[in-house]
Amino acid sequence: MDESGRTVDEVLAELDEARGREPDPHGAHLFGLTYPTGRADIERLAHAVHDRMLYSNALNPFRFPEQARLVGELVGDVGALVNLPGGGGGSTTSGGTESILMACLVARGRAGARGVQRPVIVAPASAHPAYAKAAHFLDLDYRSAPLVEESLTVDLDALRELVDERTALVVASAFSYPHGVMDDVVAVAAIAADAGAGCHVDACVGGMVLPFAERAGVRTLPAWDFRVPGVTSMSVDLHKYGYVPKGCSVVLHRDGDWASHQWFVYDQWPAGIYGSPAVAGAKSAAPALAAWAVMQHLGIDGFTEIVRDLLATADALRAGVASHDGVVTNGDPVGTVLSWRSEREGLDLYALGDSLERRGWFFNRLTGTGGGKPGLHVMVSPAHAAVLDDLLADVSASYAEVLTTGAVSDNSGRYA
Ligand SMILES: Cc1ncc(COP(=O)(O)O)c(C=O)c1O
Repeated sequence: MDESGRTVDEVLAELDEARGREPDPHGAHLFGLTYPTGRADIERLAHAVHDRMLYSNALNPFRFPEQARLVGELVGDVGALVNLPGGGGGSTTSGGTESILMACLVARGRAGARGVQRPVIVAPASAHPAYAKAAHFLDLDYRSAPLVEESLTVDLDALRELVDERTALVVASAFSYPHGVMDDVVAVAAIAADAGAGCHVDACVGGMVLPFAERAGVRTLPAWDFRVPGVTSMSVDLHKYGYVPKGCSVVLHRDGDWASHQWFVYDQWPAGIYGSPAVAGAKSAAPALAAWAVMQHLGIDGFTEIVRDLLATADALRAGVASHDGVVTNGDPVGTVLSWRSEREGLDLYALGDSLERRGWFFNRLTGTGGGKPGLHVMVSPAHAAVLDDLLADVSASYAEVLTTGAVSDNSGRYA
């Protein structure tokens, strides 16, 4: 910071220069972290809501009851998509990690109420690190269940062994980040219920994809949402396939009374009752209201159309990449997350990823933890439809290059 400050234009010029050295979030050359739609109407709406709500504060619903009402509508709409029964409840949070933290907090409370001293979270090895993080924050034990090698879904026998009377919450992904496959939610929820534990479905990625895939008739799915009796909570991120800027997820609880266990309320200070349903205190209403606005704008039909096209793009990308000899799709991904491994001597997929990066495409890397081999990974966004042919041509060129040069790479990348 300068002693005398700088002009607005100078500061923005420096920011733009810095941005220019990074991948363009709109450019459809990233395959995760951002979810570009290529849709001017959606982006205009998200910008307009942020413009209007930039200086808002969602902390106090009594001062801003209209914001609270609209956010409540958003939570209700997301709940309806995943068949949350009447009597259920939930709230918005800043993202998947915070939703998961809240689900674990509530599960800890439920376990405590039945006398469990040190509750345990049991999650598939493919579960997002947010569960281990929640266990760390909330002083819970954490057990990781191995995956079935071929399907890369959680091994149910191994899971059953890990669940006991101390278990507060058992996790199933619908679908998982590393491989895009769906755990057997019915079986996981039954194992949890037998132990008196909760079952959390991680639909951070799938929650805004799967309901529309079913509606579009492009996927026939086993039961995975609140229609499954033992499912007690779920996280659905709007800042992924709800197509809004970062800062919005929804956490839902089958039992609305338990949703109230998210709340922290305190009045032992001189400034009145303080209450909040998640981690943040003061926070902008813009992310949640942008999600509300985009859902209002697109409606069920708009999302269904997007997901129909999105899954057509994902299917074409899956088939196109796996058409190269020795490149094998991991498991049977149901949605927008795809990953591949190499089954060919001399074909190093990290080297393929490096070659693609030189051509401007940023595939993610799998390190092989959780049962899979090292591999490449993508999250497909609507904007990828427009670049699919160029991308597949470059995949073929990079594949030929790696086979010719015999390149190997130890670049396993970083998730964060
Ligand atoms: C399945 C799954 N759960 C949870 C999360 C965490 O979400 P966030 O990064 O919004 O905290 C992610 C992020 O990619 C995810 O893929």
